[in-house]
Amino acid sequence: MLLSNLSYPDLLEEKHLFLPSVCLFIELKSTGTAHHFSFLLNSTDYRILRMDEDHDRMYVGSKDYILSLDLHDINKEPLIIHWPVVPQRKTECYLTLFALPQGECGNFIRLIEPWNRTHLYVCGTGAYNPICTYVDRGRRSQEYIFRLEPGKVDSGKGKCPYDPKLNSVSALINGELYAGVYIDFMGTDSAIFRTLGKQTAMRTDQYNSRWLNDPTFVHAHLIPDSAEKNDDKLYFFFREKASEMGQSPMTQSRIGRICLNDDGGHCCLVNKWSTFLKARLICSVPGADGIETHFDELRDVYIQPTQDTKNPVIYGVFSVSGSVFKGSAVCVYSMADIRMVFNGPFAHKEGPNYQWVAYTGKIPYPRPGTCPGGTFTPNMKSTKDYPDEVINFMRNHPTMYNAVYPVHKRPLVVRTNVDYEFTTIAVDQVAAADGSYEVLFLGTDRGSVQKVIVLPRDDLQTEELVLEEVEVFKQQLYVGSVLGVTHLALHRCDVYGEACADCCLARDPYCAWDGKSCSRYSSSQKRRSRRQDVKYGNPIRQCRGYNSNTNKNTLETVQYGVEGSTTFLECQARSPHVSLKWHLQKENSDRRKEVSLLIRSLQSSDSGIYQCTSTEKNFKHTLVKLQLVVLSSRTVNNVLVETGSPALPPLQRPCWIT
Ligand SMILES: *[C@@H]1O[C@H](CO)[C@@H](O)[C@H](O)[C@H]1NC(C)=O
Ligand SMILES: *[C@@H]1O[C@H](CO)[C@@H](O)[C@H](O)[C@H]1NC(C)=O
Repeated sequence: MLLSNLSYPDLLEEKHLFLPSVCLFIELKSTGTAHHFSFLLNSTDYRILRMDEDHDRMYVGSKDYILSLDLHDINKEPLIIHWPVVPQRKTECYLTLFALPQGECGNFIRLIEPWNRTHLYVCGTGAYNPICTYVDRGRRSQEYIFRLEPGKVDSGKGKCPYDPKLNSVSALINGELYAGVYIDFMGTDSAIFRTLGKQTAMRTDQYNSRWLNDPTFVHAHLIPDSAEKNDDKLYFFFREKASEMGQSPMTQSRIGRICLNDDGGHCCLVNKWSTFLKARLICSVPGADGIETHFDELRDVYIQPTQDTKNPVIYGVFSVSGSVFKGSAVCVYSMADIRMVFNGPFAHKEGPNYQWVAYTGKIPYPRPGTCPGGTFTPNMKSTKDYPDEVINFMRNHPTMYNAVYPVHKRPLVVRTNVDYEFTTIAVDQVAAADGSYEVLFLGTDRGSVQKVIVLPRDDLQTEELVLEEVEVFKQQLYVGSVLGVTHLALHRCDVYGEACADCCLARDPYCAWDGKSCSRYSSSQKRRSRRQDVKYGNPIRQCRGYNSNTNKNTLETVQYGVEGSTTFLECQARSPHVSLKWHLQKENSDRRKEVSLLIRSLQSSDSGIYQCTSTEKNFKHTLVKLQLVVLSSRTVNNVLVETGSPALPPLQRPCWIT
């Protein structure tokens, strides 16, 4: 079923990134180059829950529907399952929830995990009564199979929240489902749960605020610790209330972990994790007065894989919880730093009136948090074999004393004093002519996506470059939102103009000047024929031989102004790092005089040719050339005066954010 008549560009290369977000909304319709799937379904709350690269499908959950979309064209033959709750449950929900919005009495799909080669495991809130089932997706995508497996509905308790407003995270590993979720109707009992498989069901200690204190779960990810499978740990990223009353900040961001093969304690902590540990994640900037400004609220995490599966790079998006100051930041963490904190001292508190200190007493063996049967405990096959003192120690010391600091001890990207916050992140590694770059795609609470590259500088500082704030790309970025799913491009080189210099100054690693136009860069192409300089953006070096000042883009137009009136000379910068200057060249004169872009009271002597030049990295470029004609106020009575906008083409790219 083709629901959109938008044309679709050829795909050059596949890259799948997605922003798992509920609050992103992209305004696409105006541009016509993006592919928006909101569909004829009477549904809301679309969440991209799973990419299936083997089948080239993307699974999306919304209210009462599960979708399977083609990764290449989200509007091509979508496969749709309608999975509402039975009418009786809906009625019961309405009766119980009379005080709440009735819209919540739906089946909000919150979990889609691959179960086996043919089936998915899927859970929904079930109108405040979570349910799970299996979905048959066929062996191959060409089969176009997508249907509920009849008669296989399970309870979703401990897998999916009751309340669709509460976040949950999950990971299905070796047939075991691990979930960070609120497991009761009222949303007061939060837990990290293990269900479904052959191992014993497990959870975090109930109503123990030292373990979890009103958490909001953000992400879960398996990161191996060594080549030994028994050492495998599942990491949970969340934010939670600070443990002490009245403590500042109110919220703290956390990284927590458990061993996959944890069987709980023998004496105590029976069916409860005996390897759960957590640490604080710091993302802060030093203020002028030396006091750190903390971005305390973790909003999203992106795990960037590297060659070494044990050491992925962890990107976190944070915002500030305080009321005075609004801002957000991206911090990057290394697994080496994270492991160092988990191998460091435990936080300890002697009693209610004591401070948290680093525990200095004897630490029992095996060291709390160690996985059974692993590198350090080959002879203890289960946590049930651990001595009681280890289990007791774990119960009271789930928190590490030291916090995890970001790489270089500061954020990679910071935004303050702007009217938006970052909420989601996806990262792409791009091979460019002068090295490999990481391009960040940052979703904002305002509904746009910023494409940002951070360049290392020689002095250990970094330079951040906002490549564009986009409402639309052409390929391969998938954005889920309340209103629908959108498929966007990672690159759109044509917006950078038609000159080599513009292409070079854009410093977009996805794009290079190929001798004729600014086009998609591919590292396999011959280097000599492609001009790109991401690091320095130096067109003087890169564009030698190409007429860098092709006057194609320079429009000569006539602008009229009335004597005594105010006139604005409009000149749009192509990037945020450009300085703009207007020059006036009087008739019958070779002298050029710098002028400001706002002329308050026009005089006839202001007539002449005006030229707007941009300067970036010592590179000058004429953007606009216009002739200003000043009309005497007496003539105006009978003349239609055209003022304002010099005939610039409509802006091809949205305004820069600085
Ligand atoms: C969509 O849902 C709304 C509210 O539930 C309902 O009023 C409307 O009739 C539905 N529209 C269609 C096309 O089903
Ligand atoms: C996958 O799991 C489903 C549900 O348990 C089962 O019906 C199906 O036969 C399994 N398929 C394979 C290939 O094992």
